[in-house]
Amino acid sequence: MEKSEYFKEAIDPELSISYQTGRRKASLARMPDQIRRIVLFCCVCVLGFLTYVAKPSIWSIDGKSATPVLQDPSGSECPQASPISSSLHADLLKLLEKEFASEEYKAKAYETLGGAVRIPTVVLAFGIDEERGGISGATAIRDHLLTTYGEDAFSILVDEGGFQELREDVLIAYPAVAEKGSFNLRIEVSTPGGHSSVPPAHTGIGILAALVTELEEHPHPIQLYRNATFYESLQCQAAHDPKLPPHLKNLIKGSLNSDKALLELETELLETNPQFKAIAGTTQAVDIIGGGVKVNALPESTFAIVNHRIAGHSSVGALKAHITTVLGPVAERFNLSFDAFGGGAGHAANGLVTLSDAFDTGLEPAPITSTSGSGPYELLSGTIINTIESSPRKAYSGKKAVVAPSISLGNTDTKHYWNLTKHIFRYGHKGGFDAYNGAHTVNEAIRAEGFLEMIRFFSQLILNSDQTDLLE
Ligand SMILES: *[C@@H]1O[C@H](CO)[C@@H](O)[C@H](O)[C@H]1NC(C)=O
Ligand SMILES: *[C@@H]1O[C@H](CO)[C@@H](O)[C@H](O)[C@H]1NC(C)=O
Ligand SMILES: *[C@@H]1O[C@H](CO)[C@@H](O)[C@H](O)[C@H]1NC(C)=O
Repeated sequence: MEKSEYFKEAIDPELSISYQTGRRKASLARMPDQIRRIVLFCCVCVLGFLTYVAKPSIWSIDGKSATPVLQDPSGSECPQASPISSSLHADLLKLLEKEFASEEYKAKAYETLGGAVRIPTVVLAFGIDEERGGISGATAIRDHLLTTYGEDAFSILVDEGGFQELREDVLIAYPAVAEKGSFNLRIEVSTPGGHSSVPPAHTGIGILAALVTELEEHPHPIQLYRNATFYESLQCQAAHDPKLPPHLKNLIKGSLNSDKALLELETELLETNPQFKAIAGTTQAVDIIGGGVKVNALPESTFAIVNHRIAGHSSVGALKAHITTVLGPVAERFNLSFDAFGGGAGHAANGLVTLSDAFDTGLEPAPITSTSGSGPYELLSGTIINTIESSPRKAYSGKKAVVAPSISLGNTDTKHYWNLTKHIFRYGHKGGFDAYNGAHTVNEAIRAEGFLEMIRFFSQLILNSDQTDLLE
């Protein structure tokens, strides 16, 4: 397919940006009255999707149900949704909104339908400072949405993240349903000053070095739990990834019922998957260090900051306990008082070691979004599958689409959104194969075709949300 043809097709069928006016009018004229009532309440403004529900009987618009059924829900360990495709067109929605979004029309529709109406609201929320923690943007968005709609008012929330992998003829999409926690540890060593010509055996810097060394010699345990998101992801790979080596596939399947196989799997992954340690354990990285002012003055205050990403099975509390256990004996060895996270310092002997949350931003691992028997997950999966399998993109032709849940190793703005909904997904429908030159760097880019796929995905998600029974 020629490039220009691809763009035309990618935009045309589902997005319907480029429909002829005549055709638009024709579609509108064909629409039964009911549709107007539905569309009228769609206020496209999205972050998520809100519905006030009295069970709608008006939802099956053209006889096609937007409700898919999980195939083989009990047998397979990685059930896949059927493709979900909306029969409404985006431009139609836009037109109808414009025409019927008045308060009078809403009031009239309420009256006519006796209150049995659901009002889907799509909120588009654009953060401004995710890379610095969303402290101004996401928090303001959250406060506004909580004030406007209340707690747990959204049916689904989709933010950035996730990834895709092309494995021979299978394209696996990984929306993130979990997110690691994080904690920045500040270690501060305060020691008496003095002239460098008469130094103690260990200056504050030497002591800090000993503390850092001790931390690095006691990394956090790595463990693969059966209830972890990554384990669910592995089951999907075993079921659908044609490139997975057979022995690994057997190990993954065998580990469902055998602890021995589970241990073997863990060992295998440690050896072969460079990301596994980060996925299945808490990581620590000593990133910042400071101290000392002059070569003839002993350092009175030195510090280091250690960044941690907390495993899904752990917590801020467990992390603090681990650090305290590892560093306490070192402080003791140097006769220093030890204040671990405000626990009290005892008497100030030769000096003081203070452990604290460097920026007061300690974050627990996110609540895990449910995937089994979950309407929102099914809607997302079905939309992903449909977007890929209906794509005019040459690279996708003949490919089967599969969805597997994943855990996000980095943090997103969603950490501020936990109270908006229980159904949080981090997924932007972007393939790693579409990315150019890494992330956060010069000349970072994505393929235009990939970018169009992202637009197709979000358009379909919004349209599917409007028609589905999978959201409450
Ligand atoms: C997962 O399993 C571990 C070990 O059995 C357990 O301690 C933990 O609470 C479980 N986590 C969840 C979220 O169920
Ligand atoms: C710590 O104090 C004890 C007793 O006061 C002393 O014997 C020892 O040398 C001190 N050690 C250090 C490293 O200062
Ligand atoms: C959610 O709400 C609870 C109770 O109001 C509050 O304590 C908590 O901090 C909120 N969580 C987030 C992530 O905003």
